[in-house]
Amino acid sequence: MPATSVGMTIGLVLSLVITDKAIPLMAKARSTFVCQSCGAVTPRWQGKCESCGEWNTITEETAAQASVPATQRTSRKGRLFVLEPLSGKSEEAPRVASGIKELDRVTGGGFVRGSAILLGGDPGIGKSTLLIEASAALARKKRRVVYVSGEEAIDQVRMRAQRLGLTDAAVELASETNVEDIVATLSEGTPPALAIIDSIQTMWTETVESAPGTVTQVRGSAQQFLRFAKKSGTAIVLVGHVTKDGQIAGPRVVEHMVDAVLSFEGDGAHQFRILRAMKNRFGPTDEIGVFEMTGGGLKEVENPSALFLSDRDTSSPGTAVFAGMEGTRPLLVEIQALVAPTSLGTPRRAVVGAEQSRLSMILAVLEARCGVRLGQQDVYLNIAGGLRITEPAADLAIAASLISSLYNVPLPADCVYFGEASLTGAVRAVPQATARMKEAAKLGFARAVIPEAGRGDSSEGLSVRTVAALDALVADIGAAAQKVRRLPSRDAG
Ligand code: TYD
Ligand code: MG
Repeated sequence: MPATSVGMTIGLVLSLVITDKAIPLMAKARSTFVCQSCGAVTPRWQGKCESCGEWNTITEETAAQASVPATQRTSRKGRLFVLEPLSGKSEEAPRVASGIKELDRVTGGGFVRGSAILLGGDPGIGKSTLLIEASAALARKKRRVVYVSGEEAIDQVRMRAQRLGLTDAAVELASETNVEDIVATLSEGTPPALAIIDSIQTMWTETVESAPGTVTQVRGSAQQFLRFAKKSGTAIVLVGHVTKDGQIAGPRVVEHMVDAVLSFEGDGAHQFRILRAMKNRFGPTDEIGVFEMTGGGLKEVENPSALFLSDRDTSSPGTAVFAGMEGTRPLLVEIQALVAPTSLGTPRRAVVGAEQSRLSMILAVLEARCGVRLGQQDVYLNIAGGLRITEPAADLAIAASLISSLYNVPLPADCVYFGEASLTGAVRAVPQATARMKEAAKLGFARAVIPEAGRGDSSEGLSVRTVAALDALVADIGAAAQKVRRLPSRDAG
């Protein structure tokens, strides 16, 4: 219907405002089937989600107001807004630093006003502990902080705070799960600098009829918290649980809505906890924060290399120290390998803390380019301390640990390794050679085996052995094995 006069336009807008209000009452509850893993909607129940391929993830949800009714999507005349040029001054996103350095490093310098962060991690890893510590730190800086727990009663949160010695901090606590109530309470008075919602899976909003924890509820609740954050300038942290396969349960959708996704990792056997940014609109994604879980809460680890190398067994074959980088920070880690004759038809290759495909590639290169026979050997690879390595620069250290185990000769205890292996057997340069060697020197290492190309500006006092190809490394370790006459009688290549 073309609006030809101003009068008609106003009339049209008015009538739409009136019908807009009436629509939610008229909407009929309708069932949809939603995949709890990826959020895809199907008209009927299916065993397998066509969208993400998961089985048994589709459940029925009533979507009375979850989606906008078709009648509401009619051709309303849009409100005009101002279009802006690319140039022009924009304010630097103001940040609220928590004062916990390892946390601020990962967020990129603190919580950004009006932003939303999703913090994921296994149950019991320490998400609530980290957030109550961050809340207390901010509250001590005279910022208003609200901590809403949907999982624990006030007393439980208090008990934890007591144990951590945080009871003097003026954090405002609540044990609530209704989104409308929480948003109304947060909107009273000065908006908080930080609000924690622990966890998003326990929240429910009246605008959605499905049960708490379903994708629709989680998405609906998250949307309202995000809207509140944008409007009030409060930084919101949503806690999200992680499923067995490491995804933030259900709401992949929430990952796309928030400004940053942090993941808190670690394994039950170790005290180390690593905070990593998976996505960050306002900061880097390659920085990590390292914590240690102690009886008195999470302690920041300022020198992670020392911690990861603390219980190293330097006299055993099969361990090599890798001089790695995590973001801007160097990190030394121990790589452990065990190569042993197999009793199976197909030898085992097991990896913890690194990529299986990377190990396969290194084994193939060692076989094909350096004549090392590994076809009849089981190979186990482990990164000490529960750390996960993704850098290709670890190739040289991985190869060194494998050869050391195969030849049954320990590597020099004061030596670090870094370099990327290529399929031709060449060892390629990696970035930040100087920073890696500096960290090694700082921790008392005296030697480094590094790529011939790109050796950095300075070796930081280390005695450097450059290798152009992996066979040079194999020859070095072979010679050491000969010297101590430990070379096994089996044909080791
Ligand atoms: P929690 O923060 O409740 O984990 P999440 O919120 O991620 O589920 O942490 C619970 C674990 O942390 C629990 O196993 C006990 C341990 N813990 C400590 O070792 N020391 C402490 O000071 C605290 C508070 C917890
Ligand atoms: Mg918790």
